[in-house]
This record gives sequence, C-alpha cells and structure tokens, in this order.
Amino acid sequence: MSISQEWPAARVRETYIDYFKKNGHTFGMNHLFKLRLLLRLQKVPSSSVVPHSDPSLLFANAGMNQYKSIFLGTVEPSSDFASLKRAVNSQKCIRAGGKHNDLDDVGKDSYHHTFFEMMGNWSFGDYFKKEAIHYAWDLLTKVYGLDPSRLYVTYFEGDESSGVKPDLEAKDLWRSVGVEDDHILTGDMKDNFWEMGDQGPCGPCSEVHYDRIGGRNAASLVNQDDPNVLEIWNLVFIQYNREPDRSLKPLPNQHIDTGLGYERLVSVLQDKPSNYDTDVFTPLFKRIQEVTGKKEYQGKFGDEDTDGLDTAYRVVADHVRMLTFAISDGAVPNNEGRGYVVRRVLRRGARYARKYFDAEIGTFFSKLLPTVVQQMGDMFPEIKKKESDLLEILDEEEEAFSKTLDRGEKQFEVFAKKAEDSNSKKLHGQKVWKLYDTYGFPVDLTRIMAEEKGLSIDDNEFEDARLQAKEASKGVKKAATDQLKLDVHATAKLDEANDISKTDDDAKFERGNTTAVIKRVYNGQFLGSTKDIQEGDQLGLLLDKTNFYAEQGGQEFDTGKIIIDGKAEFEVQDVQMYGGKYVLHIGYMKEGTLSTGDEVICEYDELRRWPIRNNHTGTHILNFALREVLGDAIEQKGSLVAPEKLRFDFSHRAPVSDSELERIEDISTKYIRQNCMVYSKEIPLATAHQIQGVRAVFGEKYPDPVRVVSVGVDLDLEDLKPDDLKWKEVSVEFCGGTHVAKTGDIRDLVIVEENGIAKGIRRIIAVTGEDAHAVQRTARKFAERLDLLEKKSPGPVKEQDIKTTQADLNGLSVSAITKTKLKDHLGKIVKAQLEEQKAQQKAEAKKALDTVNEYFTAHPGAKTLVVKVPINANAKAISDAIKTVQSKRKDKTVYLMAADSGAEGGKIIHSCFVSEEANKKGLQASEWTSSIASIVGGKAGGKGSSSLGNGTNPEKIDEAVEAATKYLEKFSL
Ligand code: ALA
Repeated sequence: MSISQEWPAARVRETYIDYFKKNGHTFGMNHLFKLRLLLRLQKVPSSSVVPHSDPSLLFANAGMNQYKSIFLGTVEPSSDFASLKRAVNSQKCIRAGGKHNDLDDVGKDSYHHTFFEMMGNWSFGDYFKKEAIHYAWDLLTKVYGLDPSRLYVTYFEGDESSGVKPDLEAKDLWRSVGVEDDHILTGDMKDNFWEMGDQGPCGPCSEVHYDRIGGRNAASLVNQDDPNVLEIWNLVFIQYNREPDRSLKPLPNQHIDTGLGYERLVSVLQDKPSNYDTDVFTPLFKRIQEVTGKKEYQGKFGDEDTDGLDTAYRVVADHVRMLTFAISDGAVPNNEGRGYVVRRVLRRGARYARKYFDAEIGTFFSKLLPTVVQQMGDMFPEIKKKESDLLEILDEEEEAFSKTLDRGEKQFEVFAKKAEDSNSKKLHGQKVWKLYDTYGFPVDLTRIMAEEKGLSIDDNEFEDARLQAKEASKGVKKAATDQLKLDVHATAKLDEANDISKTDDDAKFERGNTTAVIKRVYNGQFLGSTKDIQEGDQLGLLLDKTNFYAEQGGQEFDTGKIIIDGKAEFEVQDVQMYGGKYVLHIGYMKEGTLSTGDEVICEYDELRRWPIRNNHTGTHILNFALREVLGDAIEQKGSLVAPEKLRFDFSHRAPVSDSELERIEDISTKYIRQNCMVYSKEIPLATAHQIQGVRAVFGEKYPDPVRVVSVGVDLDLEDLKPDDLKWKEVSVEFCGGTHVAKTGDIRDLVIVEENGIAKGIRRIIAVTGEDAHAVQRTARKFAERLDLLEKKSPGPVKEQDIKTTQADLNGLSVSAITKTKLKDHLGKIVKAQLEEQKAQQKAEAKKALDTVNEYFTAHPGAKTLVVKVPINANAKAISDAIKTVQSKRKDKTVYLMAADSGAEGGKIIHSCFVSEEANKKGLQASEWTSSIASIVGGKAGGKGSSSLGNGTNPEKIDEAVEAATKYLEKFSL
C-alpha cells in the first residue's frame, strides 16, 4: 500500500479529531455543529471563516479566534462556551490580509496558502503544557507514525524587555517525552511568542518542525524558510493579553491553543515534497488542465518554472479555494475591508489565469468550483448549499473585471515601457494609482506585474497619489443635473440637426462595454464641440449610442466612465433621457479632454447595475405576489429600483398583516427558487394591453410598440395569445428596465418594511441578493442574542441588557416579519423578567422579615440586632421589614443592611429602627445611619425613630455591620 493510500487527506483529519475526542475534547462547539449533531452528522466543527461579529478581524486566521472570549475570561456565563473545558476541530482559515498575511508567498513556495485548514486542540483553564506536549508527541509519533528523528521542537528563549522568562519548562517536557537534546531549539519573540493580532490573547509557544529529507541533523534549517524543513504544529501556551498600550497583562487562567497545518501534515504523511502534490490539490490541478488545455502541472518552482505555468497552477488552485470559502461564509467582493480582500484575490487569480493559461475571463473560476465542492463539500456542507450563489457571484465579479483587464494590461505595458527605459526602473505612484482607479487593478497585482518586468513600485508614492486624487475629487461636486438639463429649445435644435438622431441605447440590455462617438458636448450653455475643457469641468455628453441606462420607470440611472484609454476619462454621475430619445451622460472631466467626433468606450458600473437588476426583477415578482395575496384591485402607485433596495408603493386600504406579508414573501421566494427565465419583447401597444393580467402603471404614457417583460413564460409573438389565461399565473408588465436572466439570480427577497404613506397607499421596502442574505444573517445573530439574554440570571445586569437590546432591535434592519417575531420574543423576556423581579421582591421581603423574626425568636431577651440580610440591595424589602419592627417589635433596636453582589454600579441599602428606650439613652436613628453612610458612601436620612441610607460601596457591607454594632456599645443597651 502506498503512503498516500494509507493517509488520504480525509483520513488525516478524521484521525486528528478522533484522537482528541478520545482524550475528552468536545468536537466543534458552535451552533451549526449542534444542529448537525441533531441531524446525526458529526461534521463542520469549523466556525465561519468570516468573523461577522468581530470587525477588528478580516478573516478567521487561526482556530482559536472563536474562543477569544474564553481566554480573556469575558465569556457570556449562559453560553455553551462557559462550560467548555477541552475542544478539538479543523478550522477554515484565511490569511490574506491583516497581521497574518501569506498572499504574497502563495504560488512561490510549496507550503503557503491564503486558505487552509488548521486542526487544533484547546484547553480552557484545564490541562496545560505537560499534557499538550504529551498529546502532540504521542499523536505524531505513535498514531501518525512519524519518525522522531525527523522532528524538531522549539521553545521560547525569553525576552527581557517584555519581562517573559525562557520557557525551560517546555524544554524539560519535550525531553521527558523522548526528544533528543539536539532536536530541541530555542526561538525568539518572532517565532516563539504567538499573538492573535495587535491586541488579544497571546503567549510563548513551542513549534514542531519536520524534515522531509531525513537521515541528517537538520536543526540549522529550522525556521529558515527551507521548503524541506517546515513547521507543522504550533502549541501556544496562552497566558497573557496584549493590551492596547502594547503591555502584556496576565490572564486569569492558563490555556492551550494549538494549530496543526492540515495541508502540510497531509504532504508529510503522503511523503510528498510539497502540499500541492497531495490529493488536497491534485484534483484541482486536473480540473484546471481540463478547462485550459495546457500541459500538466509539473511541480516546478522559481527559476525552474520557466514559463510560470506551475506557479500559476498553484495560485489559481489556492485562490479558488479561498474564494469559495470566503464567499460562502458571506464575504462578498466589494471595495472595502474583507470584501476588498476577496476582490483582490479574484482579480489576481483572474490575471494569472488569463496570462498563463490564456483563459477567457468571465466564467473561469466558476468552472473550477464544482471540483472544490466535490472535494470539500462533505466536511463543509455550507459550500454545497451555496454552490449556485457562488457561481453567480464569481461570474459576475469576473465579468466586471474582464471589461478592464485587457485594457489595463495594455495601459500597464505603456507605463512599464517608460519605466524600463528610465534609470529608476520604477513604476511611479501616479501610474499605479491610475491602474487601480481606472482599470480596477489592485496594487498587489500591479506589483506582481511590475516584478515580472524587473520593475519596482513604491507604496508611499501610491499613497500620495491616492490622497491627491481624493483631495482633487473633494472639489468636484456631483454634476448639477438641473443646470445641464436639455430644455425644449435644446431638443428642438437637436431634432433639426441632421447629424444626430435618437441615441441608440439597445446596448443597455447587453453586458460589456460599448464603443461610441461623441455627438455633442454640453456645458449648460453651449451645445456643440467645446474646445477648452478643463479637468473637473461639469459636462453632459451626447453619444450616437450608449449602454448606460437613463433613469426611467423607477429604475435609477447607471454610473460609470466614458474613456479614451490613456487620454481622457469622463466620470458619469447621472444619466437622463430628454425628449424621449436623447440620452445625456452627466458628469465631470476627470482627466484629459474630449470633443465631438471622438471615439470613446462606454463603461457603466456593472457591479452597481447587478443589484439594480436583481431589485428590478424582484419588484415585478413582488408586484405579482401582492396581487396574489391582496387581490387584483391593488394598483402600482410608484416604485424605486436602486442598488441597495427596492421600494414599491401601491393602493390598498388596510395595513398588510404579518400573515399576508409572510405569504407575499413565500410566493416571491417560490418564484425565485423556480429559477424561471425572464423574457422581454417589444409588442404593439394594442396587443400588449390585451394580455391577461398585464401590469402597467395607470395614467402612464407608453410608447408603441411597448416593451413587455414576463417572468416564466416566453413572449414569443407567434404564440402570444393575449387572452390566454396562463398570463394571469405569471408576472407580466410593461417595462423598459434591466432585468436578470433567470429568477434564481435574485437569490432571495426579504421585505424589511411595510407602512402607509398616504390614505389608501402602502409602501413596501425590500432587499434582494446579497443584501437579503445580510439581513437574514443579522436576524439570526439577533435571535441568538435573545436566546442568551433569556438564559441570563435575573438582576440589574439583565435589566440593563434588556434595555440596550430593545434599543438595538428598534434600529435593526431585518425582515419585517422576523422583526415582529423578535419583538414578541423580547416581549416574553421582558415579561418573564418582570415576573422574576416580582417573585424576587417577594422572596427578598420575606427573607428580610424572617431574618428579624428568627433572631428574636431564638434570642427572646435580646434588645438589639445589627445584621446583613443575604439579599440584593432591595430598598423596599429592607424598609418594609423595618416598618414591621416599628409596629410589631417597638421595644427592639434593629439595623438591617443588604448589598448587591458583583454587579457594576451595585448599591447597598441600610436602615435602622431605634426603640424608645434606646432613644432615651441618646441613640438617634439619623445619626446612626449617617455614621454608616460615611463608610458605604451615598446619603442617609429620615425622621424620628427610623432612618434609611442608600450607599454606593456595596463591598463595604461587612465593615459597615461591624461599625454599626460598635456604635451601639456607647449606649449600654
Ligand atoms: N493559534 C496558533 C497559530 O495560529 C496555534 O499558530
């Protein structure tokens, strides 16, 4: 049996998890995991690779991330984590940004990845170094059967400036499990002190390294970036927190956090020289080869990889894994934070695919996706579930980049040529910025391209260029559409001219760029060919044709660019149609100048149009569902289709009830899930009006022929029988907007608001696509928060929590129906809290009284009592008990105190009654409580025989009892 058959990748993971499960570790420990346990599928212990609730972290970059609160001792006492002592799992990790960033090494070496799995075992204040080292050695040498002579371990050498001593204990422990002295090495802060980030849990660590060659002492190669001697396991002895001021603060407990590189261990066990030679990657390479038709992966690195193809294989395989996991956990490509990391990785990968595999960009990654899903979908079912979303997102992103990739590369060549001819061999910051700003090239991609040509780029220069551009754009306000309006005189003039006619805007229904010719430049007064355009000038451009969508029918206009590569760039901020035929592109000159007759590229912002498309078809589906649920009488009264939401106003007398909303959403969801084709066609107006159930806005003037959009039934004129009743079962509307190709693209539609805006007019606001998923995620998180809140023990902390939760829920953007449910749930929690409070109040009142009664029953002769009542600082309970003494035990002198325990902002309540006899001897109730107030803080007062105080230092209660007792001594009672 060959080694790789003995240790297929999946078995390596199973063995690890089983080993620690046998040793008392809980596998997994997150909600998804529990769900699966219920389903009897012991899978997916990894938490999301996208830490949605921790904005300080781009991606999960280590297995311990999800346990941070346990290490810090801030874990919510009612959560599952509070009782967790030992855990094991295999965590999806991404290191492509932030403190741990391996992106630049990917492809170049055999063992760095942006996405990888980290197997780990954890102890939370349970076992420590001894057991951790024993487990690691036992598992590696006995279970996986690695040769001890190839293993090297390191321990922390200490660091005086941080005040951390050398970890000699770890050294001795490694000795005690049988590691030879010449295989035990020291390491410094960089290698042997692990930190989660700039802040957070940290501690000295011990690493285990493996020598792929063997038969030698490789100690000198450890931690030297030698591909044959690589770190496989890191055992961190978590003991500190790195504070914001960079100091190390000891933690309340000591913990174990380990990370074993899954892909690396697989390569070791399969005796392969590189992670990429194992069955983690080979199926992907095979697929890349099938898709591109290039020669097979040869496993060459550096200079040996003369055509760069093997490096490209590694990059592409790595990146598709990263993209699959990041996107399926909700990190969608966009322009900031983690979304931008995803975009960068995709663009970087796409350029490798294009340059080295000659692949056509647009659907490249989605062709590799099924292989990733097939390989990893059993362990991580979330990627199976999200496969169709992933396909769409990958294609959409790639398609958007494909519009500029070629042109950007050409522009790069021009810039690079100049740089090559210069002495500095440097691509200047302005150029790098230009490639970023106009062509969407992430800086790290430009850097790779520059390196390929022996050029360098300067990050500081880029930053300067970026700031300059930001500064320049500050001065440019949004072009004033009003001032650039084409009035009737202007359109009449255009009608008369014989060199311009209706703008041909058919291309708005297609994807991709359009080439057009400028017919008129308009600056508010002058409509013609202007000569002296300055950068920053606000203008309107009329072209012979365009792919920009001009605002109409509720759909927002497109934005984008009109460009002559390398010469001129016009930023389009608004697009309006005049005279029903002239499309005016309104914006400002960002660079260079344009005049009539110029040939330009029209590039609308595809990534903005994408959600608009989803929302537009979503609006039609919603309109259909409304009619199904509320009846045919509802009429559209207005609509807005924007990138971030859709808004639909309609006539209806009563508010839409929750159950109606639920049905409306259900019908919409079903429509979406059916993945129906969307058809559109221009049809003679008279025929179109006869289509059964066709929706048009009453009073609107439609052109003849009119464009009709139907969802699910082909509008082929030949078979179009307008009176056919089948039309009533689908959405069919007059509409000139842009739509998805099939309803599945919308993914989901969630109604986030329903309310009345005028008498008899209701408004619905809904979101689709990724925004719908985001609100669903928010709702799930909030539901979890309520579950935790419910489990909290009653008291002032819970009360305060309820208040903040209430405020947060009011401002929460989630499904309207879910919001009602969340409100109901919170209502129940509030009610239970009130009942608990009442019961507690009663029990505490009883306790206070019992304390007094029991004492005097047991000591019938006693005249005084000073006591701490074991209840919260419950003023009512204490004063009621004092009142009872006043009416029923007038001859006794009593001082009762009670304090909150633990809660921040806790109080102490103290109150006394002074008998007549005691009073005669000089004891004054108010003086007595004042003397105590000087100890416990706060105020005290009252008239006559009783007095009450409210203090701010509950921890002083014992001292206070002692002082009050002592005070009595003066009066010989
Ligand atoms: N958290 C440790 C690491 O990532 C185990 O190396």
